[in-house]
Order: sequence, then C-alpha cells, then structure tokens
Amino acid sequence: MIIAQITDTHIAHGAPDADRRASDLERTLADINSLDPAPDVIIHTGDVVHGGRREDYAAAASLLATARAPIYVAPGNRDDRENLRHSLSRWVPASGLGFLDYAVEDFPVRLVAFDTTTSASNRGDFSAARDRELTALIEAGDQRPIAVFMHHPPVTVTVGPDPLNFVTPEAMADLQRSLERSGRVAAVFCGHVHRSTWGRIGDIPVIVAPCTATTLRKGDYPPQMQSQPVYHLHRLNSASELVTEVRIVAAAT
Ligand SMILES: [Fe+2]
Repeated sequence: MIIAQITDTHIAHGAPDADRRASDLERTLADINSLDPAPDVIIHTGDVVHGGRREDYAAAASLLATARAPIYVAPGNRDDRENLRHSLSRWVPASGLGFLDYAVEDFPVRLVAFDTTTSASNRGDFSAARDRELTALIEAGDQRPIAVFMHHPPVTVTVGPDPLNFVTPEAMADLQRSLERSGRVAAVFCGHVHRSTWGRIGDIPVIVAPCTATTLRKGDYPPQMQSQPVYHLHRLNSASELVTEVRIVAAAT
C-alpha cells in the first residue's frame, strides 16, 4: 500500500504567514491528488493547527476535504484534543478510548494512530494508561504488519535544539518497549521536529517527515526550494517491506 504522509500544517488565522501555511497544505494535497498510482491513504501526524482553535480546524477541514484519498489524523502538541475530535471527526475515527488512539483495518497493513500529546508539555508523554491503549489496539488485530503514526518521534533526534522529544528518557524507553513487544510493528511515522530525519527502535524504522508548512521547516534547503512543500510517500507491503520516497511539490506558477 502507498501512504502519503503530511504533518505540522500549523494552520493559524492571523499569523503573518497564515496564507502561506494554507497554500502549502492546499498545494501538497493537490500534488497528492495528482499521483499515479494514487496513494491508498493520507496520514497527518499532528499539529494540524497552531493554537487548537475551532476556526482554524474549520479552515483546515475545508482544505483536507479536497483530498481524494482517505485521511487519518493523529494529534500534535499544538492541537487541542477535543476541538480536533469535534472539528475533524471525519478523519479521526471514534475508538471509545480515552486518548485519541484508534486503528484502521481497511488495508494490507494495519494503521494505528497513537496520541502522544499532553497539556503539561510540548513533549510527548507515555504512561501505563497509554501503554494499555496502544497494546490493546495492536493486540486486537490479526497478524498483518502495523504502521504506527504519532506526532512525537520516539527516538533521540540529535540534529536540532533538543534530542529528547518525550517528557523523560524513561517514558520514551517504555514506549519503545511497547512498540517492540508484539513484533508486528513494521514502521513508525512521525512529525514534530519539522525536519526530515530517521531513526530506529530495534528492527523498527522510525521515519520523521518535514513539516508541510514551508515557513516553519527546519533544515537547509536551497533558495529555489524554500517555497516548495516536501512530504513523504511510504510504500509498505504485507511482508513489512518499506520504501520511503521524499516528494517535492512543484514550484507555484
Ligand atoms: Fe509542529
């Protein structure tokens, strides 16, 4: 299956670059719509909006509605869990769980969205309650491989200002153990650090996509690329074989 990953769109009415953030998302979705073969699914790994406001979710929703492929969203630290659940319910299946965790069963690879956000920190959190939800979602499925998508990378990212993206090293280590336990997690897809980077938990690749909002993107890009959104296309099959392609959206004309 083909998974298009977008992340960190940070839609924010009133921001100086608000129009650019919206057009970056619009252009990215138009590019995804133009792909042949089309992706099976689009995942958004969080920070859909910048301040959690409902009017920003409404603006994001009108843009996300232009996508042809089904979209699934995991929350980021800039999101408001309840407003996201309310305004983007079409893209966040109800699971009955306390956190915004759910599984998608429609594809050769199972998708599990995992909520790492906490109102106490911009970093990710993990706890016994979150472990129970993640484990329940993983164990509820069959033997298909699983792609987990979440906002915060559960690995140290040694480029950038802060290598640790969880509240404590112990919380991240606990999450790593939880992800490894079943032996069926084939890949973890994340955002949050606004740059393209990769890591590994044992045999599990952890792939971090750059933010869709070009004005917030980290890392060096040549001047002619600075206004071009970049996103990830993951090809992942039922044998857990993964190929990730970095896709550059064509320059605006
Ligand atoms: Fe972000």
